[in-house]
Amino acid sequence: MQEPYRLSGFYKLGLRERVQLLREMTDLTDEQAQGLFGVAGLSPNQADHMIENVVGVFGLPLGIATNFMVNGRDYLIPMAIEEPSVVAGASFAARLVRDGGGFRAFCDEPLMIGQIQVLDLNDLWAARFEVLAARDQILALANAQDPIIVNLGGGARDVEVRVIEQSPVGPMLVVHLIYDARDAMGANVVNTALEAIAPLVAKISGGRTLLRILSNLADRRLARAKAIVPVVSLAHGDFDGNVVARGIVEAWSLAAVDPYRAATHNKGIMNGIDAVVIATGNDWRAIEAGAHSYAARSGQYSSLSNWQLDSPNNSPHSDANSLVGTLELPMAVGIVGGATRVNPSAKAALRLLGVQSARELAEVIAAVGLAQNLAALRALASEGIQSGHMKLHARQVAIAAGAEGEMVDRVVEALLARKVVRIDQAEEILKELRDQP
Ligand code: MEV
Repeated sequence: MQEPYRLSGFYKLGLRERVQLLREMTDLTDEQAQGLFGVAGLSPNQADHMIENVVGVFGLPLGIATNFMVNGRDYLIPMAIEEPSVVAGASFAARLVRDGGGFRAFCDEPLMIGQIQVLDLNDLWAARFEVLAARDQILALANAQDPIIVNLGGGARDVEVRVIEQSPVGPMLVVHLIYDARDAMGANVVNTALEAIAPLVAKISGGRTLLRILSNLADRRLARAKAIVPVVSLAHGDFDGNVVARGIVEAWSLAAVDPYRAATHNKGIMNGIDAVVIATGNDWRAIEAGAHSYAARSGQYSSLSNWQLDSPNNSPHSDANSLVGTLELPMAVGIVGGATRVNPSAKAALRLLGVQSARELAEVIAAVGLAQNLAALRALASEGIQSGHMKLHARQVAIAAGAEGEMVDRVVEALLARKVVRIDQAEEILKELRDQP
């Protein structure tokens, strides 16, 4: 695959031209291209093997976010999402971050946590002791369930035991199996291992095991991204770069302390994250559950990201050189297994991304989440988000009215000037423009 590049002006191309350009830039096979470009995605027959009572398949727009550089590498980012402005916002923010050298990102080992609930125990601490003493036996039994993942370097890594002194049904133990899922999301391998070891855990502890299930609070599998944005890059229109940078930190500060704002702030982050998670065939409910439970880990729900000003000499009184953002959240995504391999569109999206491991995918997704957050905060801290939305909406309306090529921009301009973005207005403007000599 040719090195993906910034694709500046990609949004100005027509749908067919965009597809053509991507085909020229990448080595997607015909089948992959068809999967990605909506010609032949998931078929009802394939879907029929995925879930129950299938009657069809359901579509979502797939866009490509541009300008992304993560750990020095360029990426084309496939995003499946119905909300306007998200792909444009991510691409725009990625361009700002590019000015500061691109995103840095890294990810933990792909360690998942599986839980076994143990009830009916007389002595919790003695039972805990016995389970921990049998660690090697438990790990060996867990690893006997999937020799393939063990051969790939994954498998059960550790056993931890938590004592719950009080619950609505009394005391209990929770045994955690720490499992390296390698390039898989991990739910299947972990749940299989848990069900296999539960009888042994029951015997060793002398209790009764009930739940045997993966935890979506995958806090041993965190992805982190960092972005540095030169303050000068934040200046636009009448807005001074320093004012915008300070506004972003002020906006983030509210999310840091107020759950009402943190929910919306994190929703903006998940706009980017979910779109890539969905496009690559991953389980976005798992990612959502992990993100929000991690955001509440202190006992108060808070922001998943952090934004600070990097002032010369660390002086709060001098203008900042740059705005620095970081994001950290659980990222249990895979590039093997599940829908990532069954859905032709997801396969093609992974191919377009060109990631070699689940960890690399997690790093890119974290960067997209941070970019999305930056795009939202920059707009909120300056002109607000509606004007950008209206511009994009006007574009869609102009195209729906039949505008093509340079006519699109002219219709958009006229619609925005009229302050009424409606299809009948767009059709009228288009007719007027076409009737002009
Ligand atoms: C809308 O989908 C997302 C935003 O509300 C995020 C935010 O407020 O930070 C714009």
